[in-house]
Amino acid sequence: MDTLKLHHRLWIANSSEVKERSPIIFECTYNGKGESLLLIRYDGQCIGYLNKCVHMPFRLDCEKKTLFDHTRDKIKCSMHGIIYDPLTGESLSPTMCTGEKLNAINVVEDSAGIWIDDECVESVKEYNEMLSQPTRKWILANGFNPDDIDQSGKYNDTPLILACREGEKVIAEELVVSKANVNHRNMDGTTALWACVVSNSFDMADRLLGAGASIDSQNDNGATTLMYAASAGKTEWVKYFLARGSDTSPTSLDGFTALDLASNVECLRLLKAVPVTVE
Ligand code: FES
Repeated sequence: MDTLKLHHRLWIANSSEVKERSPIIFECTYNGKGESLLLIRYDGQCIGYLNKCVHMPFRLDCEKKTLFDHTRDKIKCSMHGIIYDPLTGESLSPTMCTGEKLNAINVVEDSAGIWIDDECVESVKEYNEMLSQPTRKWILANGFNPDDIDQSGKYNDTPLILACREGEKVIAEELVVSKANVNHRNMDGTTALWACVVSNSFDMADRLLGAGASIDSQNDNGATTLMYAASAGKTEWVKYFLARGSDTSPTSLDGFTALDLASNVECLRLLKAVPVTVE
């Protein structure tokens, strides 16, 4: 007689916790063995895979915690670089394991959140992975504590603020994936988003905003990142913030708006074109 194997769905996260192309790793028991599980949201859909490369039995994040390639469009193994289609888990590499697929895990999303509904998976818990060795070294070399990523150092900066200011995208990405505080304020009250403007890191700014960074945070002088961009004549950044709905009405402690602070004609025109909202 066949044995009827009963299983129950395992709730793993709120829908809001799984952001587009920001993978979360869990530890799970899969067919009785400890494994790692990867949950991603791609084009709105929640998808699960065993976190194990088809090339060799290594975790996809064994070398680096970033699991998407530089375009943030494909999953990439950090060991030898196989690129996978996020929707099918299929290797798109022309030379390695072409067509082989990551082991899919059945994921269900409903009004209560995200569930694993896969009879092979018996238990799941979120995996708090340590940072990669290069990132830990960078954090240590800059006087921070890699075991407490939100601990601030010189100027009350955190590793994330410094990484963004120095354009260290891989490190900043790992810190965001590790849930570093994206709204920490340093000695001047500026945040990692401001630091992205300093280093001209548009894609990192997008990551921070996607992870909940406040676009209109004001520093100790009342300045927003939009004001900073306008006063520094960073026209592309003014466009960037306006396109993402930045509020033009805040004033600095001196009573100046972003428009008042515009230091070139392009910034002035862009800010003047924003309709004034009457409350
Ligand atoms: S182990 Fe993933 S590409 Fe080789």
